[in-house]
Amino acid sequence: MRENTLSTSNDSEIDRTSRRKLLGAAAVAGGGFLAGCIHQSGSETEEQNTPSQTADEDSVLIVFFSRTENTQAVAEIIQQEVGGEVFEVLPADPYPVDYDTLVSQVDQENEEGYTPPLQCNVENIEAYDTVFFGAPTWDMQLPPPMKTFLSEHDLGGKTVVPFNTNGGYGVGSSFQTIEDRCPDADVREGFSTRGGLERDGVYLAIQDDRREEVRTEVTDWLQRIRM
Ligand SMILES: Cc1cc2nc3c(=O)[nH]c(=O)nc-3n(C[C@H](O)[C@H](O)[C@H](O)COP(=O)(O)O)c2cc1C
Repeated sequence: MRENTLSTSNDSEIDRTSRRKLLGAAAVAGGGFLAGCIHQSGSETEEQNTPSQTADEDSVLIVFFSRTENTQAVAEIIQQEVGGEVFEVLPADPYPVDYDTLVSQVDQENEEGYTPPLQCNVENIEAYDTVFFGAPTWDMQLPPPMKTFLSEHDLGGKTVVPFNTNGGYGVGSSFQTIEDRCPDADVREGFSTRGGLERDGVYLAIQDDRREEVRTEVTDWLQRIRM
């Protein structure tokens, strides 16, 4: 299982160059993963969350939130099929590692309508025409950090393409929340598939044969929505 404070898997297939441009990914002491806005390059520090736009696919942004890498796996597949830049949403304060503690915290955040601050925003969101927006179902809702993302980025006028993984209970209100919070966007038919079920000890399920099955589901969906 990956926590927000831990490193992403070494076998991640996300285009690292694209990803670094947005994430400023840098290893930190303890094997962590710094998804801040700053990229350490030699002795210089440079802003990395404003990638240059040179090709058509640069108008595509794939935003995702993922705890146990199932939604990340779908983001990777989408990037392989469509291209574009990838941005991982990370809360400024990492969620608890312990599942039960996490569930209690998420329940409370949802009840209070709390939207946790993020480590980093996409500074040049206006540069993107199409935003894929992916999250696991949490508490039959969009996870709180993704609600934060929607309140901090204006997706009006863009094509927004939701995707989701869940433990078998569906998207809940996730896709509706995206529609409600993006009234001026062209929100397309979302993609949802079964991922893990941490409650029962199933973490990364979208790997090996299952990953290839999901790839087929994703390509069918992309064709259907003409992306
Ligand atoms: C805090 C929490 C709440 C969850 N709530 C639900 C839920 O309400 N319905 C559901 O089907 N799955 C639920 N799940 C399972 C995740 O949606 C599923 O494991 C998903 O694939 C995880 O995606 P990830 O690996 O990208 O984090 C929950 C998982 C967590 C950690």
